[in-house]
Amino acid sequence: MDKLVIEGGNSLKGQVSISGAKNAALPLMASSLLASGRHTFTNVPRLRDIRTMQILLSNMGAISEHGDRFEIDTTDIHTYEAPYELVKTMRASVLVLGPLLARYRRARVSLPGGCAIGARPINLHLRGLQQMGVDIELDHGYVIAKAPRLRGATISFEQVTVTGTENLMMAASLAEGLTILQNAAQEPEVVALAEYLNRMGAQIEGAGTAEIRIQGRKELIPATFTVIPDRIETGTYLVAAAITKGDLELKGCRPDHLNAVIQNLALAGLSIEGEGDSLRVKRVSEIKSLNVMTRPYPAFPTDMQAQFMALMTLGSGVSLITEQIFENRFMHVLELKRMGADIQLEGRTAVVRGVKRLSGAPVMATDLRASASLVLAALAAEGVTEIHRIYHLDRGYETIEQKLAAIGARVWRESS
Ligand code: EPZ
Repeated sequence: MDKLVIEGGNSLKGQVSISGAKNAALPLMASSLLASGRHTFTNVPRLRDIRTMQILLSNMGAISEHGDRFEIDTTDIHTYEAPYELVKTMRASVLVLGPLLARYRRARVSLPGGCAIGARPINLHLRGLQQMGVDIELDHGYVIAKAPRLRGATISFEQVTVTGTENLMMAASLAEGLTILQNAAQEPEVVALAEYLNRMGAQIEGAGTAEIRIQGRKELIPATFTVIPDRIETGTYLVAAAITKGDLELKGCRPDHLNAVIQNLALAGLSIEGEGDSLRVKRVSEIKSLNVMTRPYPAFPTDMQAQFMALMTLGSGVSLITEQIFENRFMHVLELKRMGADIQLEGRTAVVRGVKRLSGAPVMATDLRASASLVLAALAAEGVTEIHRIYHLDRGYETIEQKLAAIGARVWRESS
């Protein structure tokens, strides 16, 4: 199993090109099941999760190629199943449920098991589909779903759910009549999916707000779409500049998708200037300790909580970091403490007392964003850090060690 080795202490300087967003590309790929024919996506990142979705769709009969562009042909879909072997490695596999039901009126999808960061049930996905007339049975760990007729409905989410919104938006795009999604997720990835569905001929209004209206259509036609930049990768490199007293230019990003993160990092002591699709960022003072609370978009994203915590471990005072989205997303705390951080957990809040320095140590990655926080801490730490189980990192960060080395980091991969 690979590990990442980082010798800390270098200030990062130079340019980083931001990749396409994993959490936008995955629902876009699943949406290709809605329309028979060749779909073309550009700016699709080369990540483990993208590969998993590609395998999932090809098991169903899709033919795809990931060259400069990602092309997928869904003319000959013959299997309507997402097997446990794939779903257990990537929960986002559940995103095929809505499109399969909308197009083929049936689906057999493994229930995603537990996850390191929380229970993460899909009850809100299933309840919404039942309201649309889907007959759902749970059998031997699988969701068996049938929908002789898929009809529009008014669905009010009791809790904001990103993939829940995406799944029901896709199902509704080929349903009979009008579907209204209330308390819907407003993430940029949801907006991008709605844009692609509309480009295929769907009739969706209100994406990006709490109420989305979808007028079902008889048929959709494949099209071409560019995946939006990864706002979480962008945020991660902003913190890399902050924690290493660096000076970076991030190219090909969407600053407007990161307002809450940029505002907090500016308060923490960063100068951040945005122009078009690039951000210039440099550390201009000591790191000021801040309190943050994770909430659905446009508030501070849970996917930046761990990275922000890494920065606050070197803050000037005390920072309270409250995780409101997932009930178990503090697995990185113990590992950061191994590097000398001073963090106390009190329920859903981490009390982070800033320390003068971190020291390199062998640590263990537990999930995607936790591994990113360990990389950031290692870049600032004295000495060498070994990060084990970096397959978590490869799920969501494209060529991270090459990108980091190009801006001055001492980082390499070793198999352990
Ligand atoms: C998406 O996950 C992202 N994944 C996650 O990113 C991200 O952390 C999360 O949204 C929140 O922003 C993808 O887009 C592929 P949710 P998702 O449904 O859709 C509860 C990363 O690091 N809930 O919005 O699975 C749930 O347990 C990943 O890239 C239910 O109770 O998250 C959680 O507490 C990690 N029942 C909350 O809602 C449901 O049916 C929000 O989850 C659905 C969700």
